[in-house]
Amino acid sequence: MKRGLFLIFLGLSSLAWGTDEAAKMQRGEELVIGRCFLCHGGTGDSSSPLYPKLAGQNVEYLLKQLRNFKLRERDSNDMRKVVADMTEDDFQAVAYFFSQQEASRGKSAYEEMRAAGEKIYQQGDPEKGLKPCRECHGDNGAGSATLPKIAGQHTLYVETQLNLFEERKRTNDNAQMQDIAKRLSSDEMRAVAEYLRSL
Ligand code: HEC
Ligand code: HEC
Repeated sequence: MKRGLFLIFLGLSSLAWGTDEAAKMQRGEELVIGRCFLCHGGTGDSSSPLYPKLAGQNVEYLLKQLRNFKLRERDSNDMRKVVADMTEDDFQAVAYFFSQQEASRGKSAYEEMRAAGEKIYQQGDPEKGLKPCRECHGDNGAGSATLPKIAGQHTLYVETQLNLFEERKRTNDNAQMQDIAKRLSSDEMRAVAEYLRSL
């Protein structure tokens, strides 16, 4: 009898969890079609290299960025306006929606550059005190709960962010990326971005 009740309880709570996720997904989709679509695409697999791909990005990382934009801890003219009147519930919904989408991968057209980028990503450069990117972003660039997935990201977006970190115009990273970026030449930034697009 007790066991029966327990099973019913389990069944009901997973049902509640299921509808909660479904509601978030639906609300997320509405918000994305209404507000994000033009720049990031309907599933976050943006086709323009100016706008980061958000499809398949990690939920916690997405939430942090949205909160950072709202509090101006990360500056962007476009994103500041977009998030101005969004609530925490809206953030939860769009972040969940994007995290569940599939992202495409680019193709590298420059084999030598890609190989140079792979070396930086996987091995770093001990002589320059440069840690391998892999140490934080993972062997395949998938990131973690709090660290961004950078595999498959647009080359131009990655390069732009590395420059922003170097110039200390992006400062929401606890100085970790600022330290990395200042040890990379612009050729190395381009090479590692070229590697990432096809990863
Ligand atoms: C007018 C164009 C535009 C619209 C509309 C827009 N974005 Fe953005 N978004 C950008 C740009 C540009 C960036 C890159 C900012 C930078 O360079 O730091 C960005 C960056 C982001 C990032 C950070 C991604 C990363 O990898 O760090 C998130 C998250 C994001 N947008 C979410 C959204 C959501 C959610 C919506 C809809 C509610 C939205 N954006 C609508 C232009 C837009
Ligand atoms: C010590 C850990 C660490 C290492 C090593 C590291 N990163 Fe990062 N990376 C971070 C953190 C932390 C963030 C930003 C998180 C945030 O904004 O909240 C980040 C963000 C980024 C972003 C911005 C992603 C986006 O979607 O906007 C790029 C691009 C990036 N890293 C590339 C690299 C590259 C390339 C290397 C190697 C040359 C590297 N990282 C090495 C910790 C690291």
